[in-house]
Amino acid sequence: PAEQERLKQDIKTMLRRQNAVLVAHYYTDGALQDLAEETGGCVADSLEMARFGTEHPATTLVVAGVRFMGETSKILNNEKRVLMPDLAATCSLDEGCPAGLFSAYCDEHPDYTVVVYANTSAEVKARSDWVVTSGIALPIIRHLARSGEKVLWAPDRHLGQYVQKQTGAEMIYWPGSCIVHERFRAEALAEMRSRHPQAAVLVHPESPEEVVALADVVGSTTALIQAVVTLPNPEFIVATDAGIMHKMQQLAPGKVLIEAPTLGEGATCQSCARCPWMGMNSLQNLAEVLKTGKNEIVVSADLARKAAIPIRRMLDFAR
Ligand code: 13P
Ligand code: SF4
Repeated sequence: PAEQERLKQDIKTMLRRQNAVLVAHYYTDGALQDLAEETGGCVADSLEMARFGTEHPATTLVVAGVRFMGETSKILNNEKRVLMPDLAATCSLDEGCPAGLFSAYCDEHPDYTVVVYANTSAEVKARSDWVVTSGIALPIIRHLARSGEKVLWAPDRHLGQYVQKQTGAEMIYWPGSCIVHERFRAEALAEMRSRHPQAAVLVHPESPEEVVALADVVGSTTALIQAVVTLPNPEFIVATDAGIMHKMQQLAPGKVLIEAPTLGEGATCQSCARCPWMGMNSLQNLAEVLKTGKNEIVVSADLARKAAIPIRRMLDFAR
């Protein structure tokens, strides 16, 4: 704890001296989330993280999350320096949607409006008409469906299918999934729920359809945290990365939070819902990047200009 305290003090000093602000995702380590808030930064879902960077006057953004979050910040704020604790922090959705193949898929379907999830590379975003996050996907697809547009959706097929069901939009899907959320198991969840009759089930829409079908609330990380605060239930079964429980417990200390069951090593397990890439962020490597200036995100001005168009479309729509 003394070492941790010293690290935190060092980070605070470096953030101040470098006119830098820390933006963290709800899945990162609790110490990073607390530090972001203590230092005037923010802890948020991916939609709010993107917006925060555009509105904050700091000249350096330090993004604790996964690579697409840092890239989105750089795309929207190309003149700012964007650092990340670990540049190897990727995302299975981003990895599973290479720009070349994706672009060819889009070319095969020229009459479709291309909507990509924020969990993609700058190149994939640049090939899209709209970027969405889980927090804004439903209203945007509803809007497109009302205008009679057919949607080519990538890369999370579970989120895409959920959105399709809710909106009735005509959609085709890229076959991607999140390695964390696809581990949740519906049968074990139903059984857990029967043992906790007072619990509300909270599910992130990257989860498989059968898991989403058991949910009382489906939504982005921010929406799931809000549900814990506002619903009267004394218990919540949470089907998303367990890092989210830090903020849930802070805002609703009296509520009991239970991890939804996941597929384990040959059996169901209750601690597998941890994104390995979000877990790469720590106080140690955060201090290191502030000290050395390494791990700067680079997106060329031309690519940033193209990729910013569909992201800004989303931010303007969300206003
Ligand atoms: P949110 O936009 O809900 O924060 O989700 C981001 C993410 O990567 C979920 O796995
Ligand atoms: Fe990507 Fe899944 Fe990790 Fe979110 S939890 S960053 S979607 S791998």
